[in-house]
Amino acid sequence: MSYIPGLKGVIAAETNLSSVDGEAGELIIAGYPLEEIASHATFEEMIYLLWHHSLPSHADLNAFSEALKTHRTLPNATVVLLREAASQNVSVIDALRMATATLSLISDHDDASDAKKLVATLPTIVATYWRLKNHQEPIAPHAKLSHAANYLYMLTGQEPDDAQTHAMNTYLNTITDHGMNASTFTARVITSTRSDLISAIVGAIGALKGPLHGGAPGPVLQMLHDIQTPENAEPYLRAKLENGERLMGFGHAIYKVRDPRANVLYGALESLFANRSDREFYTFAQHVEKTAITLLEEFKPGRRLQTNVEFYTALLLHSVGLHPDLFTPTFAIGRTIGWIAHSLEQRTLDRIIRPESIYTGHKNGQWKPSHERCAS
Ligand code: ACO
Repeated sequence: MSYIPGLKGVIAAETNLSSVDGEAGELIIAGYPLEEIASHATFEEMIYLLWHHSLPSHADLNAFSEALKTHRTLPNATVVLLREAASQNVSVIDALRMATATLSLISDHDDASDAKKLVATLPTIVATYWRLKNHQEPIAPHAKLSHAANYLYMLTGQEPDDAQTHAMNTYLNTITDHGMNASTFTARVITSTRSDLISAIVGAIGALKGPLHGGAPGPVLQMLHDIQTPENAEPYLRAKLENGERLMGFGHAIYKVRDPRANVLYGALESLFANRSDREFYTFAQHVEKTAITLLEEFKPGRRLQTNVEFYTALLLHSVGLHPDLFTPTFAIGRTIGWIAHSLEQRTLDRIIRPESIYTGHKNGQWKPSHERCAS
């Protein structure tokens, strides 16, 4: 056995949930190419697909969607915790992680029930916290709105239009699952010990929040704001690359061609802006993207650095009115259904994940009481 840093290339599971092909630029989710399903399905259909391995009939979809809606309200203790977190200005993703742990208060200790409660309450947690953090009272969930529309409604108090709802829905669908990424692996490891679903999701949120995983879209937006004008794009990006810095929203550990999720979000943005007069920022961002790709080929020839999902995530979430502090928590809202599906898949294996390590320390320690040890 040899040590493989980061477990790169190690196959840690068999799954029928998603397939990522970095050379072909292909993402399959539960049998469907991403382009085929992401902009057509509702988020509720996507949940059903990942959890039941087939799309629901019309009647099943209605029953499933209504069942989810009944779980949207938070326990009182969760709101109390969020108020306390807001008074200490905790980050949104940390508040989400802490509040998700409180869902044990309403757990039925049953995966199917906890899965619905987790998915239904996460948007309420984020929206409730966002409002409290901004000195506004929370808005109760809207029983008539879909998952995506209700999330936007609880954040702003305004019912989103169809274009905004479709954009948010497509975003959530696009990021539901992506092979054995770090947070999904975390959820699987936790479930493999026969621990509960809520613990798995709390752990996965903790893994997602790191800047090497779910934290990139905020910096993409910051970069666009820093560049300000199309004329600044070339000198700004060139200076970054000359400085040895990385351009946010470009490159990917697996994709060596354009990230298929970037294509899907690009399509969603085209629809969103079709009838809007404020597409200036979007057009500007496209100019920045083209300039970045040209410069990356100049500075890193042959590395095949292309646009990744985070570039268009930043544009899409910004365009539906979300603050950058909400980007990673919104990623968590979408990815939760993948985390749950993987946890349920792991559950059926009932096999603890327990790799090995190579000891690199010494072995000749001899005990001395503390008063005989040298001060360090
Ligand atoms: N800007 C400039 N140079 C880059 C970039 C970039 N965005 N990405 C990679 N490179 C360089 C590397 O420094 C390396 O240079 P070298 O060969 O001279 O040493 C070369 O390109 C090859 O890098 P890879 O091995 O292909 O990239 P790696 O797997 O190490 O990193 C990563 C992938 C972390 C995504 C990287 O591309 C990056 O940091 N991108 C910017 C941050 C970002 O957008 N993250 C979100 C990714 S999507 C997601 O995680 C959901």
